[in-house]
Amino acid sequence: MPAFSLHTLTALRAASAAGAIQRALFGRLTRIEYKGPQDPVTEADRASEEAIVGTLRDAFPDHAFVGEEGGRRGSSEHTWLVDPLDGTHNYAHEIPWFAVSIALQHRGQTIAAVVLNTMLGEVYAAERGGGAHLAAAPPGRTEWTGREEWRRITVSPIDQLEDATLTTGFRHPLGESRPNLDHFTNLLVRAGRVREWGAAALCLAAVAAGRIEGYWEMGPHEWDLAAGLLLVEEAGGRSSDLRGRTAVLDRRQILATNGAIHDQVVAVLALGRSGLD
Ligand code: IPD
Repeated sequence: MPAFSLHTLTALRAASAAGAIQRALFGRLTRIEYKGPQDPVTEADRASEEAIVGTLRDAFPDHAFVGEEGGRRGSSEHTWLVDPLDGTHNYAHEIPWFAVSIALQHRGQTIAAVVLNTMLGEVYAAERGGGAHLAAAPPGRTEWTGREEWRRITVSPIDQLEDATLTTGFRHPLGESRPNLDHFTNLLVRAGRVREWGAAALCLAAVAAGRIEGYWEMGPHEWDLAAGLLLVEEAGGRSSDLRGRTAVLDRRQILATNGAIHDQVVAVLALGRSGLD
């Protein structure tokens, strides 16, 4: 195992606890609530966030937390951004493609990140300056034991948009992400493939692992993005807003790529509205 910091080791333990809750409740939900129109939340989201924040708070009682379900708790130079269950719609519909996403920021800069693909049993971890790493559970197992083999991951070398696989996301109701319909069709006719997976953290993790070349979206929250963006950066990729400028997470638009196709994607996105112009 790479020489992870106590922050990362604790985040791995927290993600593992949340993953166990998600697997136990998968397909057994009794009720789905809605925080707003088309914005579901399940008992697994809430229980996962409590497990994550409880684990992190026991280890770091002075740190602050921003969670998708619990909002902001406390204030500190160290803030954990937690999406306890990224891909709630997939989860609620028994589509086994969702994640736990945990990032630690120090004075606003992400310094540690963990993303767990709950049903595949793959876990990603990155520390600023330490590279991005992936460990997979043994075939047929999804539980995280802490004894898995880690390998360093890097972005893909593909450098032509027509050969690239991209993913995006649409928030529902479409609202501020309506202009993404134009970006979607513009990229669909120029890129090799475009997919919509329903879990932002897994899109970013896939860019970091070199499985796809890029992901863009209008509307995701900082807890959807923070961990995955450090994975991409530490795997050698690049991120920006849709115009190619420095990404500002709370302005809620993102383009993350392997770097080699970044400018080609920005050129296509320039054909449509960015929502920030
Ligand atoms: C959502 C998913 C989805 C993305 C949305 C996110 P949630 O997160 O990542 O793929 O399109 O922008 O809000 O609500 O399932 O945690």
